[in-house]
Amino acid sequence: MYDPHIRINKWNVWYGSDHALVNITADIPAKGITTIIGPSGCGKTTLLKSMNRLLDEMAGTRVKGQVWLDGINIYDPGVDVTEVRTRVGFLAPKPFPLPMSIYDNVAYGPRIHRHTLNSRGGNDHDLDGIVENNLRAAGLWEEVKDRLRTSATRLSTGQQQRLCLARALAVEPDVLLCDEPTSALDPIAAQKIEAQLQALKKERTIVVVTHMLRQARRMADYVILLWMGELVETGPAMQVFVNPRDERTRAYLDGDIG
Ligand SMILES: Nc1ncnc2c1ncn2[C@@H]1O[C@H](COP(=O)(O)OP(=O)(O)OP(=O)(O)O)[C@@H](O)[C@H]1O
Ligand SMILES: [Mg+2]
Repeated sequence: MYDPHIRINKWNVWYGSDHALVNITADIPAKGITTIIGPSGCGKTTLLKSMNRLLDEMAGTRVKGQVWLDGINIYDPGVDVTEVRTRVGFLAPKPFPLPMSIYDNVAYGPRIHRHTLNSRGGNDHDLDGIVENNLRAAGLWEEVKDRLRTSATRLSTGQQQRLCLARALAVEPDVLLCDEPTSALDPIAAQKIEAQLQALKKERTIVVVTHMLRQARRMADYVILLWMGELVETGPAMQVFVNPRDERTRAYLDGDIG
């Protein structure tokens, strides 16, 4: 039907004895925005964090199944987790700028990445371009271009979240995972993040967890609906929102559950 970027196959997660995700099979298409929706506690964040190995590092967590990224199961023993995290970025619900300048926040990932690769050589002159491009991509450049060397912690919460977006983008991930990326923001700041993600989806695969149905309706090209750890329905947004196949999807969309 469409080209999957990530394939989740018979995926299970346990926290201790709590079976948080049960046999989930779903595709994340390449490019566009996939939203993961469902009532609180249904496993949205757990599924999102499954896609870049943020999950299995937590003590007491057990997983079973596969998550394929471009044909590689990221849970195979030999897989380089750092490489996975470079290719699959993460934007958290609350902005957490590093306690350093705006410039250094965005340059942080590329500097480490370059150090790790120990190639290209590069200097801060190259970094200037990287910082500018990614601040532009996050819709923040015009607001901060004259104070790049000031502390990031002085930015407003909405600006901080766009800075975190710029920081995530700076290592050029193919996939960007966003967990309730606007939940800490006022409506105007939220709208700015939404607009940037809409622009970025032409180049990248974006997965957005949201509990706001109206946001999902605005943003989604594809939808994954979870309910109590199980997959209820997945497919193109038009189909899931307009013509759902499952009774529980109808109930959720009608506001009867969640
Ligand atoms: N670190 C953890 N340890 C133990 N149980 C956890 C942990 N994280 C999540 N859970 C449990 O796993 C289930 C799924 O949680 P998850 O955070 O993925 O849901 P969610 O859909 O993102 O919820 P919300 O909309 O409230 O953010 C819940 O029952 C939750 O209590
Ligand atoms: Mg969550």
